[in-house]
Amino acid sequence: MSRPTRREHASRKDEHLELALRLHRTDRPNAFDDVSFVHHALPAASTREVDVSTSVCGSPWPVPFYVNAMTGGTPATARVNADLARGAAAAGVAIACGSQHVALRDPGCADGFEVIRREAPHAFVLANVGPTVSPEQAVRAVEMIGADALQVHLNAAQELVMPEGDRDLRHWSRGVADIAAAVDVPVVVKEVGFGLSRRTVETLAGCGVDAVDVAGAGGTDFIAIENARRPDQDYSYLSGWGQPTALCLLEALGGEDPRLPVLASGGVRNPLDVVRCLALGACAVGVSGHFLRTLSGRGAHGLEQELRTWTEHVRTLMTLLGAPDVRALRRTDVLVMGRTAEQARLLGADLDRLARRSG
Ligand SMILES: Cc1cc2nc3c(=O)[nH]c(=O)nc-3n(C[C@H](O)[C@H](O)[C@H](O)COP(=O)(O)O)c2cc1C
Repeated sequence: MSRPTRREHASRKDEHLELALRLHRTDRPNAFDDVSFVHHALPAASTREVDVSTSVCGSPWPVPFYVNAMTGGTPATARVNADLARGAAAAGVAIACGSQHVALRDPGCADGFEVIRREAPHAFVLANVGPTVSPEQAVRAVEMIGADALQVHLNAAQELVMPEGDRDLRHWSRGVADIAAAVDVPVVVKEVGFGLSRRTVETLAGCGVDAVDVAGAGGTDFIAIENARRPDQDYSYLSGWGQPTALCLLEALGGEDPRLPVLASGGVRNPLDVVRCLALGACAVGVSGHFLRTLSGRGAHGLEQELRTWTEHVRTLMTLLGAPDVRALRRTDVLVMGRTAEQARLLGADLDRLARRSG
């Protein structure tokens, strides 16, 4: 495929933002609804003593959820990044920027990403590239925003449906391995809303990456977004492709210690979804669509309030579950039902054990 011009790349970013907002559905049912907790009426915990902090790639995070990768590179998306970063910084939340490819090709676009570090000088910030950039470009992406970690996104479904997307995906694992060898911050490989299978996670472990974000289905749907950008809309039958986030966690963890630390994102709608992911073994939980919608509807101050409210609600839910810290959530009794249970069993998850593990 020919490389997009700056104007094409930039307008795609604006379209993604606009379509993500238009297609986002608040409180849409998804596979998290198949995951519930056994209620025990004597939780023996105190909200004041619950510790909601976590650790990601060896760094302490005060809050176990983060603003996941979205955007940057145009004047409109730079404003979004500034607002997201300001809210994240005020609430002690980590933040990832969107793909920096446009700024690697055209340094004139870098300010739309650099703004994140300016607005959040002390936050844990993640840079973002795809597996097709050179190791030198990956290093530059990290330097551009003084990033604490680098996300590498795997977006095969999106590329193939994107009218101007890549069609040759043969060298992605080599690309990931070369990037991981070149950068001196932790590398977190993520999907963009279609999920990472256990097989993929195992391959990535062999590529030398430090963690994965399963970024499963159930929220922002990039097939639907790219399809809406096609005049002929001919891939609409693919909507719903991929594994939901809860299923990815059940498969990746499989009841045993995973080979890599696992972060989770995709379709996270509320603090209960955050706690579900943590209970299924995620060390932190990413949110894009919901926080973007919050920013768009309630402004930067509303986003900051939402981030603080989520933190308090996570604390409340942990108290209800008798979990003094995030690790303790992994010993809660979790019931997985319905379609997710059926799929998880096919993939080898031991759901009976999960339902009775606190004893
Ligand atoms: C407007 C928008 C742009 C995105 N751009 C990127 C990107 O550049 N790089 C990336 O890794 N993920 C990108 N994502 C994917 C998110 O990081 C996330 O994996 C996905 O949206 C699923 O999470 P959600 O359901 O909470 O939105 C984008 C998401 C949105 C909503």
